[in-house]
Amino acid sequence: MTGTFFITGATGNIGGKLVARILKADKSPRLILLVRADSSAGAQQRLSRVLRTLSPDLDLSAAKEKITLVCGDITRPRMGLTETDWTRLASEVTHVVHSAAATKFFLPVETAREVNLEGTRNVMDFAFQAANKGKLERIAHISTAYVCGNEDGMIYEDDTLPARTFTNNYESSKWQAECLVRRIMPELPVMIFRPSIVAGDSLTGRILSFNGLYTPLKFIHRGAVDVLPGIPDALLDVVPLDYASDAIHYIFAGSDDGLGKTFHIVAGKDKSARVDAIVARAVRYFRESSPARTIPPIRFVRPCNNGEANQSAGMKAGRISSILRQFEPYLTAKKIFDDVNTAHALQGSGISAPGLFSYFRTILAYSLETDWGRQIKDAA
Ligand SMILES: NC(=O)c1ccc[n+]([C@@H]2O[C@H](COP(=O)([O-])OP(=O)(O)OC[C@H]3O[C@@H](n4cnc5c(N)ncnc54)[C@H](OP(=O)(O)O)[C@@H]3O)[C@@H](O)[C@H]2O)c1
Repeated sequence: MTGTFFITGATGNIGGKLVARILKADKSPRLILLVRADSSAGAQQRLSRVLRTLSPDLDLSAAKEKITLVCGDITRPRMGLTETDWTRLASEVTHVVHSAAATKFFLPVETAREVNLEGTRNVMDFAFQAANKGKLERIAHISTAYVCGNEDGMIYEDDTLPARTFTNNYESSKWQAECLVRRIMPELPVMIFRPSIVAGDSLTGRILSFNGLYTPLKFIHRGAVDVLPGIPDALLDVVPLDYASDAIHYIFAGSDDGLGKTFHIVAGKDKSARVDAIVARAVRYFRESSPARTIPPIRFVRPCNNGEANQSAGMKAGRISSILRQFEPYLTAKKIFDDVNTAHALQGSGISAPGLFSYFRTILAYSLETDWGRQIKDAA
């Protein structure tokens, strides 16, 4: 891939891994990265830490030559860029990758809307400006498979996002953002990527933050829970960070056929995992690796069972209980994500999603090695 890429979210898991992936390619483009920081030095420090953590084998000094950092914030007018920078950058960029988002599940509605909807609007305004300047070739919008909200069963890539209900403000704001992007698709060369639940790298376990899937696992490791608010045969679709970045990179660099399409970056029907199997393997792993800890067996409480999981007898602290209750919609769902477009686009690439259990111990080992991310912060 050649050209000039403008990327948001490079200090995040997917954006950071994607930047590393792009830089490792034989021919890599020039990268302009929008980073939240007060100064270029601050932005550089933040990016270096991210790249060192996610991709320690990357040659950072060679990488720096390809990268221009701009300080900004997608929620601000012109993303916080001066009018001169905004116009100049728009006249240079050939590709826009929008990966920045507020990703905590339980955000205040105003924050979710401001970052995920209005931030996306600002990035797309920039893309329009770049298209007007004449060099823009492609845009990647990183959405989420969970724009499907509370729908269950088979979820298709061509789902046109009719109004629906959502589990939390993260999902609903990402749905609003994708609706916005879909509306402008006829005018701009967009590809939409919808990852499912992203875990650490399948070979190293590396990841920056330990939210989502990691939250219940962390409580299990602490011996702090013996009940989870879910059903044993709920299905979780999890993909590792390396697969997510490799697949997005390959498809985004691929043929023009992908323009206007949506790609599920998912494990899919055969590689989604039952929640009881995930929990049983985690308990076994934690007991083996931390024999001094008492890790109780975990029961699942059906949501209709009047909230047994809320009682302090079932969970050791009210705080943990209320955090875990927020995961109930994920621990009771039976969503299967279809990935026909992705499978077609990846044909012959050798890139395919591994099943969670082929790398589960690797991501658990990294979680324990870094004390669920604390050691990453300490080392920075
Ligand atoms: N991780 C998953 O399981 C998952 C699954 C499906 C879809 N996705 C989607 O994939 C994308 C990337 O997710 P991720 O896991 O990489 O998220 P992440 O690790 O939380 O990173 C979020 C990134 O967005 C940036 N950001 C947040 N608010 C911003 C703002 N106002 N201005 C500029 N940058 C801002 C963050 O910058 P700071 O470092 O300054 O905070 C960070 O670089 C998101 O669109 C997310 O919805 C993620």
